[in-house]
Amino acid sequence: MTSVKHFLRFNDFARDEFSYLFERAAWIKAQFKAYRKYWPLCDRTLVMIFEKASTRTRLSFEAGMQQLGGSAIYLNSRDSQLQRGESVEDAAQVISRMSDVVMIRTFQQAIIERFAAHSRVPVINGLTNEYHPCQILADIFTYIEHRGPIQGKTVAWIGDSNNMCNTWLQAAEVLDFHVRVSTPPGYEVEATTAGVADTKHFEQFADPLEAARQADLVTTDVWTSMGFEAENEQRRRDFADWQVNGEMMRAAQRDALFMHCLPVHRGEEVTAEVIDGPQSVVWDEAENRLHAQKALLEYLLLGRVAL
Ligand code: CP
Ligand code: NVA
Repeated sequence: MTSVKHFLRFNDFARDEFSYLFERAAWIKAQFKAYRKYWPLCDRTLVMIFEKASTRTRLSFEAGMQQLGGSAIYLNSRDSQLQRGESVEDAAQVISRMSDVVMIRTFQQAIIERFAAHSRVPVINGLTNEYHPCQILADIFTYIEHRGPIQGKTVAWIGDSNNMCNTWLQAAEVLDFHVRVSTPPGYEVEATTAGVADTKHFEQFADPLEAARQADLVTTDVWTSMGFEAENEQRRRDFADWQVNGEMMRAAQRDALFMHCLPVHRGEEVTAEVIDGPQSVVWDEAENRLHAQKALLEYLLLGRVAL
């Protein structure tokens, strides 16, 4: 089963594969906008397994699969046998015999790795505690749409060293850009957990304003990710100074963009002024989950079909 291609971490793919996916996503998006039918995945089935809540990921995968001519089945752990102790390995054997591709949102990355090791079909990471590669795929596609290639650019990450932050760091290494990270003390990035081979593509700053300086893109995420709710009160106190606000955006490049994977807590990790302001591209970013993942599904199921 080692020959099956999965997308479990951003750095599972090489730079030339991302170049292909971004061009392909642009083409697929153009077909969709022009109401041109494109059904390359006719008769193919995606199974989506959710162990955490979702709006965007579920919608974008389900709508995307339908728009490509295929179908999608939603499973959650509450009403499947996963909650009752069926092993991940057994579930992978069974689910992958009934479908063509699987998307999983779960807790530890180790769970999805175990699933993939026993799957006959490609497995996509729809978010784990450690990584969120589909979101960064859409974010970089959005950056390219607005500003052109991301290579050589600077991204400021303000806030938690979470799944989004880790995935930005992997993307910086693969696509050759730089990330300036600022987290509160005690929440610093750990290169091993982030899954990066070296520390050449990122730098850590104690002062969030310093991290934002000269950035081409400023981005953040919730202070408390799903699964860490017990830490909420402590985190509210620890992250109070790690809020993206107007002053921080003014420290960045004049034409800097603002991104957030959503859902957002206005007044916590970002002010309403910034997320609802002219530099914010969060609605394009959310929409692009659909287009970027359609390109991903097509690539995992059919390989390179054009360009
Ligand atoms: N950004 C994101 O993954 O959103 P959902 O949690 O709504 O899927
Ligand atoms: N870091 C957030 C992202 C949600 C899309 C979480 O894991 O909850």
